[in-house]
Amino acid sequence: MRTQVGIIGAGPAGLLLSRMLAVQGIESVVLENRSRDYVEARIRAGILEQHTVDTLREVGMGARLDREGLEHDGIYLQYPGTRHKLDFPELCGRNVWIYGQSEVVKDLIAAQLDDGPPLLFEVSDVQPRDVDTDSPSIAFTDADGVAQVLECDVVAGTDGFHGVSRPIVTAATDGQLWERTYPFAWLGILADVAPSTDDLIYAWHPDGFAMHSMRSPSVSRLYIQVDPTEKIEDWSDDRIWEALATRMALPGWELQTGPVTEKSILPMRSFVSSPMRHGRLFLAGDAAHIVPPTGAKGLNLAVADVTLLARALVRLLAEKETDLADAYSDKALARVWRCTHFSWWMTSMLHTHGDDFDAQLQLSQLQRVCTSEAAARELAEMYTGLPVAL
Ligand code: APR
Ligand code: PHB
Repeated sequence: MRTQVGIIGAGPAGLLLSRMLAVQGIESVVLENRSRDYVEARIRAGILEQHTVDTLREVGMGARLDREGLEHDGIYLQYPGTRHKLDFPELCGRNVWIYGQSEVVKDLIAAQLDDGPPLLFEVSDVQPRDVDTDSPSIAFTDADGVAQVLECDVVAGTDGFHGVSRPIVTAATDGQLWERTYPFAWLGILADVAPSTDDLIYAWHPDGFAMHSMRSPSVSRLYIQVDPTEKIEDWSDDRIWEALATRMALPGWELQTGPVTEKSILPMRSFVSSPMRHGRLFLAGDAAHIVPPTGAKGLNLAVADVTLLARALVRLLAEKETDLADAYSDKALARVWRCTHFSWWMTSMLHTHGDDFDAQLQLSQLQRVCTSEAAARELAEMYTGLPVAL
């Protein structure tokens, strides 16, 4: 088998990269070790930044998003006694959309299988080879158990945090890794109940953070901060609803409850790996970095990476110029660190961890964002996403 770009991983990063390359006449093949059902069923965050929506529309992926996505013009920040709306268009002229990552992935897979480049599920033993030469390849075993080699000009490592690509880059470049694990986790539920709010609520409470998000006019997504050692079995639906109602309580407002259809505990970490390239192997998305979910940056950062990478690969493979490929890692990492800071800042401002001094600092910061236009604008600009500077 031969193609121009061999892509490892069919998450949002790999699928969107393949689509962007196809639109610009560059061939690719996507190799995914899980099944289609598994990849489509993974429940993840659901906020799309303005540039993410623009990008999906540009590559022909906007139809269902425009029909079913919920455009939101702000969020509520809450602390005891106060629920304050940040109006994004007023503050920075941009919006966000609610559209689940699993829906983005379903749309990309459907388009790819319809008339896009090859997408192979349930492959195994995926191994990039010779990435420090001009003719790299990817060895793998296909779904029928047959050993294959995909020869290519470039390998894209979009295989997520546990993939095979990052360790190759780190080892070959003597690369650096930075990591922060947080002393809390999120317990998330999906519930068949209409959202009790028009916009997302991010609530600080002495018992811990709580958040109200949604997936549709009839499905709510809610989270509470818990200790990372908590077991999901110890959290009955009633106990979760009670904690949510306590932490988001506001006079005159009531949280509606309904059947819980999914619940899980998610660890929170920040992680950045540099560089994002070795030779002809380029990393993008969770393969290179992880953010905690508080700012909803994970998917959007993956989209920003592949926007830069697609441009660099078109330049390299069609125009035979190496400048953008050479600049890719530094350019992508600048945005990664900005979003890493924002996600860390939102996380640090909203989660309690038993330190009274820190709690006072958090409340002071929340009051500042809710009363200063300059402070609110900074949050709004980062939350709605900076434009991708190509
Ligand atoms: N071979 C083939 N595929 C692999 C391998 C491998 N060795 N290892 C992992 N994969 C696949 C995974 O099964 C997954 O489908 O790579 C894909 C990586 O997808 P994601 O983890 O979704 O990562 P990415 O595409 O970068 O998307 C980032 O995902 O984790 C969220 O918050 C994050 O929203 C962000 C988004
Ligand atoms: C979600 O809807 O899952 C969601 C929304 C906003 C966040 C994190 C998760 O910051």
